[in-house]
Amino acid sequence: MADRPPAPGGPAVVDLIHVKRDGGTLAADEVRWLIDAYTGGQIADEQMSALLMAIFFRGLAPAELREWTAAMIASGERLDLSGVGRPTVDKHSTGGVGDKVSLILAPLVAACGAAVPQLSGRGLGHTGGTLDKLESIPGWRAALSPAEMTAMLSTVGAVICAAGAGLAPADRKLYALRDVTGTVESIPLIASSIMSKKIAEGTAALVLDVKVGSGAFMTDLDSARELARTMVTLGTEQGVRTSALLTAMDVPLGRAVGNALEVEESVAVLRGQGPADLVEVTLALAREMLALAGIDADPADALADGRALAVYREMIAGQGGDPDAELPRAAVTDVVTAPAAGWLRRLDARAVGVAAWRLGAGRARKEDPVSAAAGIICHAKPGEKVEAGQPLLELRADRDAVLAGAHAALDGAIDVGPEPPAASALIIDRIS
Ligand code: URA
Repeated sequence: MADRPPAPGGPAVVDLIHVKRDGGTLAADEVRWLIDAYTGGQIADEQMSALLMAIFFRGLAPAELREWTAAMIASGERLDLSGVGRPTVDKHSTGGVGDKVSLILAPLVAACGAAVPQLSGRGLGHTGGTLDKLESIPGWRAALSPAEMTAMLSTVGAVICAAGAGLAPADRKLYALRDVTGTVESIPLIASSIMSKKIAEGTAALVLDVKVGSGAFMTDLDSARELARTMVTLGTEQGVRTSALLTAMDVPLGRAVGNALEVEESVAVLRGQGPADLVEVTLALAREMLALAGIDADPADALADGRALAVYREMIAGQGGDPDAELPRAAVTDVVTAPAAGWLRRLDARAVGVAAWRLGAGRARKEDPVSAAAGIICHAKPGEKVEAGQPLLELRADRDAVLAGAHAALDGAIDVGPEPPAASALIIDRIS
């Protein structure tokens, strides 16, 4: 394919592709030019695809990655939250099955005195998106203007809304291209994509929840640790106080997977009735966020005395939602039962995520709608004793036709045996 004429004053793109293809290092001005020119439409998708594939195989040196990320941030606006009157701190999760932590954490940390600007996305594939979950609440709206967002932060202290198109537009284009060119699973590309959006959001501090296990992006500990270290370095270099927790994602978090089901479980946690694993991860992240924000408070107190629930209600109402509204109910239910009596030893997070997605809780393409009511309730979790024939999973959907696909996804996902499973830590490591 012929090279495109370079932008005035820019290098020939094909020469830069050669550099990365052959294991070389790009200069800072070349990296900045590539991101600017691609965002501005001066570099063709086929050339950027080749460059991304070269990066996929060759990686980016630390200085290249720093420039790449800085250029992605500079491709759009960087919000200024200095006027909100509280220390700002956010959390980003790399995504997991049943991961509804943001819904609890934002009001919880706000109840302790911080401002939490959660700019979130919609789900794609087997992990759900925070906005999809909240959109199951009648009236709630994700699209806020920057003025509405900062007003929520100053008054309520927490906001969860959609990232506007002006934030890191380079990532929007690059991510769409990576999605169709087999270049998503690259640590420097994932790290720069996540961190450019989070840094542009304007938070002063950031805690990363890097999930590890079958239901996570990173299935092995070494890759998860490398991703966490890379993102912590990028945040710190950009002046954002950043730390990461590595948390287990072999089993769904909590007992509910699916949009409205996860909202209900989040409210249960805020009422002091939530499942222990979900509470443990939420409190660990809250403590980390408060420490980075310089706030000396115990989030367990704000959960126990109802302050976090009160902020949640204000946060939902402030975005048009009715926190007391009935949530959509599924028309169809089905169960998966225990094949034998014994200990539940394994409930594979990825399989449960894929099954919930097939039931309608997730989308395959970003334009697809999601069902608010579809999902899965885990009536038993690994480490619990079960009887033969006992319902382990309750499947919920809007129509019968999707049940068979969900059952197929769950094939082989459950182990019941005579011995309990070995105990394993939920919070695996901390990186700062
Ligand atoms: N999430 C992102 O925002 N970007 C990636 O590259 C991967 C996950």
